[in-house]
Amino acid sequence: MRLLWVKGARWFRSCIDPLRPFVSTVPQGLRYENVVCIDFPLNNAEAAQRLVVVLTDMSSYAIRPQFYCYCVALESRWEPNWMGSPAKIEGCMSTANYNLCYMDPPQGDAITRQPSLWSVPTPAPIQVSASIQALTPYEAVSSQAVIEARPDHKTSFKLDWNESTIAPSPRVNEAIARALTDGRGLNWYPRLGSSELVEALVGYTGVIADCILTTNGSDDALNLICTSFLDRGDDVVIPVPTYNHFMVFAQSRGAVIRTTQGTDPFENNLDGIRSTLRPTTRLLYLVSPNNPTGVVYRAAEIEALCQEFPQTLIVLDEAYFEFAQETGIDLVERYGNLIVTRTFSKAFGLAGLRVGYLAAHPEIVAGLRRLYNPKSVNTLGQIGAVAALGDLDYLNDYLSEVTQAKEILRRYFEHREVEAHITPANFVVVRVANVADTLATLESRGVHVRDRSGYPGLEGCLRMTVGTVEQTLRLIERLQSVF
Ligand SMILES: Cc1ncc(COP(=O)(O)O)c(C=O)c1O
Repeated sequence: MRLLWVKGARWFRSCIDPLRPFVSTVPQGLRYENVVCIDFPLNNAEAAQRLVVVLTDMSSYAIRPQFYCYCVALESRWEPNWMGSPAKIEGCMSTANYNLCYMDPPQGDAITRQPSLWSVPTPAPIQVSASIQALTPYEAVSSQAVIEARPDHKTSFKLDWNESTIAPSPRVNEAIARALTDGRGLNWYPRLGSSELVEALVGYTGVIADCILTTNGSDDALNLICTSFLDRGDDVVIPVPTYNHFMVFAQSRGAVIRTTQGTDPFENNLDGIRSTLRPTTRLLYLVSPNNPTGVVYRAAEIEALCQEFPQTLIVLDEAYFEFAQETGIDLVERYGNLIVTRTFSKAFGLAGLRVGYLAAHPEIVAGLRRLYNPKSVNTLGQIGAVAALGDLDYLNDYLSEVTQAKEILRRYFEHREVEAHITPANFVVVRVANVADTLATLESRGVHVRDRSGYPGLEGCLRMTVGTVEQTLRLIERLQSVF
């Protein structure tokens, strides 16, 4: 049983009285105040012509099951024909600008699959720009909803997004709670440019404040870089397999992406990168340690590339820097063609707050500031990140746990003769014979990992986040029957 209703809550309220005479034709049990209406800008004459009938599941109401009930409001006189044969319409009343009537339900459940059948004819929707139409959306599948729906969700292992497996430093919660109770209200915009956070990052990274921009997660930094530096047709080189989201940002600018792939995806492919780069290449995207293979680019290798390809902007994504402790950030003050991006989403455990940053030569930063939104990091994100940087002991303890846990997993998989790549980041990659079966079995045991078997060179591969020692020992109990 469903009710068809039109958008237009304000209209509905103002017209409810004139509609009263027809209430008697509404089946028992339907009360107007229970109808779900969606607000609609009826003062906009053009928009009003596009009123769309909305389908709302009213199965909990005692409406006569053989009928659908709908109410239609139009600025102009209503035309019954637009929704099919008038003969099917019963109890229809047409007045200047509203109608209330029933109609036989359409056959089958076509109504749910094709709501457009029930719509006022509308002009074709406005299309997104050509470069966006060409994009394949970034595949973002998270086990979060599946886990939350499980009765045993508290003991499930969410190992699919390389998040921290523990809560952030207690100082983060304390700082946020304190700020809120002290009246640092959410009604104000965040501190512009995250000034306090930038100051803390100067201490953490060792680069000067003019080299730092904070962003809404490091994805936001990657997007800002692409929007600011790429034009249609620009040549972008990306070693694959890697973090694919960057490609979406680059493609949205109409850039031409050329990938390079070594024979072993778990080995650094600098020769391949060099031979793919052209003097005209606009941007090179490197992830270190790479997601999902763990390949690391040493500072000396990055520096050599900066020198050899001075016309190419090298974007070094260090989302997993803390786990590997290898960085190119010390080069940014010297090289005007290097940007390092980092995040609080992984080792610091603040993925839910969305805080990232980039470090680059002040002239690059000045260029990025033209488009940069200085309020892009929200107030709680800024407070949380500053507090996290104020508790590096907590961070280091977690890093040490992950290192020990990786060693436990290395020995476990070795003993079981499973092909496992223990990366310098907080994840391992395991090759299995049957991906679908393994995923299903793991999920049935509350272990959620990421299928990476579709990536070039990673056939049969699953990526699994590594957490603490205690968590890993519990995890292994569940892996026993699979590996
Ligand atoms: C390599 C890499 N870069 C960037 C990101 C995005 O991180 P953030 O949460 O900071 O947007 C991820 C997240 O998985 C990643 O793996």
